[in-house]
Amino acid sequence: MKTSILAALAVLALSSTAFADTIKVGVVGPFSGPFAIQGKNFKAGIDAWMALNGAKVGDDDIEIVYRDLPAADPAQSKALAQELVVKEGVQYLAGFYFTPDAMAVTPLLEQANVPLVVMNAATSAIVTKSPLVVRTSFTTWQTSAPMAKVAKERGVKKVITVVSDYGPGVDSENAFKTTFTAEGGEVVDSIRMPLSTNDFSPIMQRVKDSGADAVFAFLPSGPTTLGFVKAYNENGLAKAGVQFLAPGDLTQESDLPALGDAAAGLLTTFHYAVSHDSAENKTFVEAARKAIGNPAELSFPSVGAYDGMHVIYKMIEATSGKQDAQKAVDAVKGLAWESPRGPVSIDAESRHITQNIYLREVAKAEDGSYYNKEIATFEKQGDPGLAALK
Ligand code: PHB
Repeated sequence: MKTSILAALAVLALSSTAFADTIKVGVVGPFSGPFAIQGKNFKAGIDAWMALNGAKVGDDDIEIVYRDLPAADPAQSKALAQELVVKEGVQYLAGFYFTPDAMAVTPLLEQANVPLVVMNAATSAIVTKSPLVVRTSFTTWQTSAPMAKVAKERGVKKVITVVSDYGPGVDSENAFKTTFTAEGGEVVDSIRMPLSTNDFSPIMQRVKDSGADAVFAFLPSGPTTLGFVKAYNENGLAKAGVQFLAPGDLTQESDLPALGDAAAGLLTTFHYAVSHDSAENKTFVEAARKAIGNPAELSFPSVGAYDGMHVIYKMIEATSGKQDAQKAVDAVKGLAWESPRGPVSIDAESRHITQNIYLREVAKAEDGSYYNKEIATFEKQGDPGLAALK
């Protein structure tokens, strides 16, 4: 009897090793070029997750296969995703910093039987393009609408909006305008700039001339946002009495050293601050700083990636490592957990993340460096942009 149990266990052990697989996750992001810090943050979040949770789910080894997409380039994004699926045999696609790159991949998912976990791209509509998309970042509707409420509460009456002319910029403008107008405020003008704009002086002049008492702005985080905030400062807008309002993309932590005193006091609304005060965030920041190498480079895409890995590990667990994209996605609908950013859940209907949005002010730390200090919380925000699409 005893020997037969031992024999059975030996067979089990053998078969579980025999069935152990390597599950590949294909991650597309900007790992070189002007947005390389943003891609580095994807990798830091993924590395932090794997350092804290292991590189295995059950018996299966998890391997991340990275592909570099330096700028928004939908055709190249689609080609990279196809190559990852066909040649590398990835079971999951993840990452995607820019909206057009995520959009370009959604038509491939069902045929490839692969879920897409969006770790950054923030246009509301992305999740509606395929039932196999789950998003762990944010939408610009989600992060911009609360700023309209803050503006109204603080007595701002007239606002000019300035956004990059593509998905998340248009969503951000609509979110701010709809909410601010509903609160009784007035949007006096709305400027949409090409994504490639890097001389912001003429725009700052239009902002001054508009007679608005605040400018609300969205640009994708990177050299663009750094240039825009510098131009706001160098063109004397604060002195001219034009307040600065934006989602947190414009004061990402990795830009603060370069902005210096120019950033002091800027108000933004966002889902994540590196300074967020919780045990989960302390653990995360420690691991992510180690992973990124230069702690000053840590920024929000790292948390989208870290939580994206949380979701992917749950999907792998729920499917026992087998390739079943619909079952994997179904398994995370309604999933709730404590993220480094605060409590979050995956909305079962939209597959987008529900989360707190925080009002933050750029403040000076004791060591003289600047950080985003959370000063108020809008709890459990869904994505109002998805409702607006219906
Ligand atoms: C986007 O393209 O969806 C995007 C990129 C960077 C951001 C926000 C949104 O900071």
